[in-house]
Amino acid sequence: MPSIVIVGAQWGDEGKGKAVDALGNRVDFCVRYSGGNNAGHTVVVGDETFTMHLLPSGVLNPSCTCVIGNGVVVDLDVLAGELAGLRERGLDVEHPLISANAHIITPYHQVLDKVTERFAGNKRIGTTGRGIGPAYSDKINRIGIRAQDLLDPDGLAEKVEASLASKNQLLAKIYNRAAINPQVVTEALLAHADTVRPYIVDAARLLNQALDDGKVVLFEGAQAHHLDVDFGTYPYVTSSNPTAGGACTGTGVGPTRIDRVVGIVKAYTTRVGEGPMPTELLDETGEQLRAQGNEYGATTGRPRRCGWFDAPLVRQAVMINGFTDVFLTKLDVLTGWAELPVCVGYMADAHKIDGWPLTEREVEAAEPIYEILPGWTEDISQARHFGDLPANCQAYVRRLEALIGCRISGIGVGPGREQSIIINTLL
Ligand code: GDP
Ligand code: IMO
Ligand code: MG
Repeated sequence: MPSIVIVGAQWGDEGKGKAVDALGNRVDFCVRYSGGNNAGHTVVVGDETFTMHLLPSGVLNPSCTCVIGNGVVVDLDVLAGELAGLRERGLDVEHPLISANAHIITPYHQVLDKVTERFAGNKRIGTTGRGIGPAYSDKINRIGIRAQDLLDPDGLAEKVEASLASKNQLLAKIYNRAAINPQVVTEALLAHADTVRPYIVDAARLLNQALDDGKVVLFEGAQAHHLDVDFGTYPYVTSSNPTAGGACTGTGVGPTRIDRVVGIVKAYTTRVGEGPMPTELLDETGEQLRAQGNEYGATTGRPRRCGWFDAPLVRQAVMINGFTDVFLTKLDVLTGWAELPVCVGYMADAHKIDGWPLTEREVEAAEPIYEILPGWTEDISQARHFGDLPANCQAYVRRLEALIGCRISGIGVGPGREQSIIINTLL
């Protein structure tokens, strides 16, 4: 039975939530492996829209066990709030299992995220302000708080105090902010302990056992390839590894146990936050794409920057993640344009760049070279087979497939659960 990793191929918001949901009730375990509540994954069921930030999107599927892997940073308030929100809407959702090694986002991480962004001025990253970067910094600095610390209140208090000792100096002396009381933080975290304790598990052992038992395990990526701290447009990235390798380090399942890696690719390009974006359209066309695609952040509500499809950007993700398949989303949004430019390469400083640029500077300087494809006007939102698509639309998909070097196995033609064309079954 398969284990399958879902990875965003651009800068996030490709439609990972919908793709996870589309795999539906055949999934036994849905596992988040990186990021935290910086994510916003939307699932549309009938006329109801659900946005998951921290919970794996499989939570909407009653037969699916949800797991938060060690690679995730967990805000316990957000977790409680998300569960309560779904329950208030009448859903009988289970609390997810949480790796004992997952790190916890504390109030001081959120404060630090906000003050460092403000301090950075025009060098800011444009983070979601959720405390993600500071929580991962503490993990790497070996001063983080982990889920398992909730099982040891005295140890937790000591760790919070030790972590805040230096941070309070920084807050007061550099950022001119009030110091944070460690007891208050410890109590706020312990307020969740009774609820969360039964769900703290050895997630690596559980998932490996599930695979031994022939269960279907889906690893739900958050963020995306070009936000990866190693492979993304550094420093304008998130602080974790959304790329496929993160599914292994973020859960404790070895690479030999992964069967498929599916890249979720938007039929055009969007980005939220700062950083380079070679095909960004700062004109009316960009606004029209934003309006047609309803491109507003699911987490912060910020308007997403929009541009044409960038083939070298996606081709790079195909290579580094080893995509076996691509799911092309939001193709319906491109209906109505007479011509669809597709970026096939870049020029930087009067040189043609071969593939993805080597340096930060070249990415900043990259000017897209466009190939113009003919558009289509027919509504495709009811198409359910590749053959239902107009000829120009089919040709657009086939050209993208050739340019990115990976087969397109699914196509999204609308936000609804049933609005997909499946070319090769993923499970
Ligand atoms: P994620 O972060 O990758 O899960 O993506 P988001 O949920 O942040 O953003 C994707 C948006 O596009 C959501 O509002 C989805 O409901 C919507 N969506 C997903 N697939 C399609 C599609 O094929 N067509 C259209 N029109 N909307 C889609
Ligand atoms: P999903 O899973 C789009 C962006 C932020 C910012 C940068 C760093 O819904 O695709 P962070 O708060 O992570 O330190 O911010 O990363 N970012 C996302 N952009 N979709 C996301 O998640 C994102 N998660 C983080 O806008 O530019
Ligand atoms: Mg999103």
